[in-house]
Amino acid sequence: MSMKANLGDTKRLSATASLSSVVLFFIILSLGAALLITVYAAGAYLTHVIPAVADKTVSGVLIAQWIGFLIIFLAFAQMMMWFLNSVRHMAYEAHQHRLSIMEWEASVQLAMQRNQTKQNELLSWSGWRKFEIKRIEAENSAEDIHSFYLVPHDKKPIPAYQPGQFLTFQLKIPGQSTPVVRCYSLSDSPEYEAEQSAYRVTIKRLSAPADQTDIADGLASHYFHTLAVDAYLDVKAPSGAFYLDMNDVKPIVLMGAGIGITPILSMLNAIVATHSHRDVWLFYGVQNSQAQIMQQHLKALDQKHPNIHLHICYDQAQTEEQLGVDYQQAEHISIELLQRLLPHKDYEYYLCGPLAMMNALIHGLQTWGVAETQIHWEGFGGKQVVVPEQTTDLAEAWVTFGDEKIRWTPGSGTLLELAEKHNIHLDSGCCAGDCGTCETAIRSGQVTHNNGSQPENGLCLPCVAYPKGDLVLDVSH
Ligand SMILES: Cc1cc2nc3c(=O)[nH]c(=O)nc-3n(C[C@H](O)[C@H](O)[C@H](O)COP(=O)(O)OP(=O)(O)OC[C@H]3O[C@@H](n4cnc5c(N)ncnc54)[C@H](O)[C@@H]3O)c2cc1C
Ligand code: FES
Repeated sequence: MSMKANLGDTKRLSATASLSSVVLFFIILSLGAALLITVYAAGAYLTHVIPAVADKTVSGVLIAQWIGFLIIFLAFAQMMMWFLNSVRHMAYEAHQHRLSIMEWEASVQLAMQRNQTKQNELLSWSGWRKFEIKRIEAENSAEDIHSFYLVPHDKKPIPAYQPGQFLTFQLKIPGQSTPVVRCYSLSDSPEYEAEQSAYRVTIKRLSAPADQTDIADGLASHYFHTLAVDAYLDVKAPSGAFYLDMNDVKPIVLMGAGIGITPILSMLNAIVATHSHRDVWLFYGVQNSQAQIMQQHLKALDQKHPNIHLHICYDQAQTEEQLGVDYQQAEHISIELLQRLLPHKDYEYYLCGPLAMMNALIHGLQTWGVAETQIHWEGFGGKQVVVPEQTTDLAEAWVTFGDEKIRWTPGSGTLLELAEKHNIHLDSGCCAGDCGTCETAIRSGQVTHNNGSQPENGLCLPCVAYPKGDLVLDVSH
């Protein structure tokens, strides 16, 4: 409203200024022309009627002519100034117009966002909801990674999510006495979900090393790979704080290694689906083409979108794989690689992958001078492992889990880690304070959370919590 009023005032002022310039120009021009005509007429008359004064008159006429020319010149100068002023005003008005369009677009965007958030709140659910597997697709030639397409059994609409968020599953795995809870990132863009009314997760089957027969295969990931279309799953609503802000326009560097590519893929697909022109550098670290997922899809995006710079990094390339064709870098993703390829360091960085890579990259980026607020990351094994906790200022304490009393020291880690070390079972999912699976009631005492989580009063998230003095938790065995 205020911008529109200002714009109107500016237009009125500039119109008045232009009109007065034109009027002034014509007055001066008329004066100059009138003077020239008078001088010519008077000169001609005097030379003709009184030849004796002809010489003097000629020089008088010349002077008067020069004055006339000067006045005309001034009129043209005035016109030039008027013209330049008009150009300046037009540029200013165009700028103001662009600003008001941008302001209008931003307010529409904000309204849409508010509407979407409201819609999501209405469509979201608490606790577990039944989903059905609609489709299963192998994603790599080794066929140990599959995408599972999930639709709600009740066929009601599902909420949108932010690219990078995950679903939490409660799996009733044969042979397990309690349900197994695991988180899996949503691997496609929210726009895909909206079109298909389906969620997609992409899961890698984790097998124990062939030479270590005492180690079991990954429980949940193996179970997923035994499921067929039409199987039912209990699923919590999308959640997670690691996601791409789609309203931001800053250029981004996306880095995913191994199966850590899934939330990164969701971000990339969201950029493409929303026709964003944001500059995107994608680094995907993987052994070789057998382990790589969605090769054709990534290649096609790279070829079609000039704002996407794809760098597939193979560290175990096979002889038939061609550098520059199948992959772009024959090395791990590292800070040296980023420094070599990126034109500058002023990006928002998003990374997900094995702990060693994340530790090295987060540390490398910080040393390079990238602000901590520009580095976003998620570890599939829990956040607290990547960032060392500041627990040294906490005093030793007694923690009671149900009827078991255990000594906590600053080296014990989170309450979840303490419980696991003493074979006390607590449900867990993300291990990052995001999914709420480990939420536990506090009978007495206080805790501090390491990632800023603030559960409701009387509750804590043991995966990211530490005791502040003696603590009693409501845990039943
Ligand atoms: C936010 C988030 C998002 C995630 N997104 C994805 C995703 O998109 N895709 C995906 O595939 N995964 C994802 N994960 C990881 C996923 O949640 C599981 O952690 C993963 O599938 C392994 O679970 P599992 O039950 O199969 O393995 P687990 O049974 O938990 O075992 C893990 C590993 O330990 C080994 N192991 C088992 N017993 C022992 C032992 N005694 N000693 C040593 N090793 C042992 C197993 O062989 C296996 O390799 C995500 C995790 C989080 C937190
Ligand atoms: S395990 Fe997800 S919040 Fe604790």
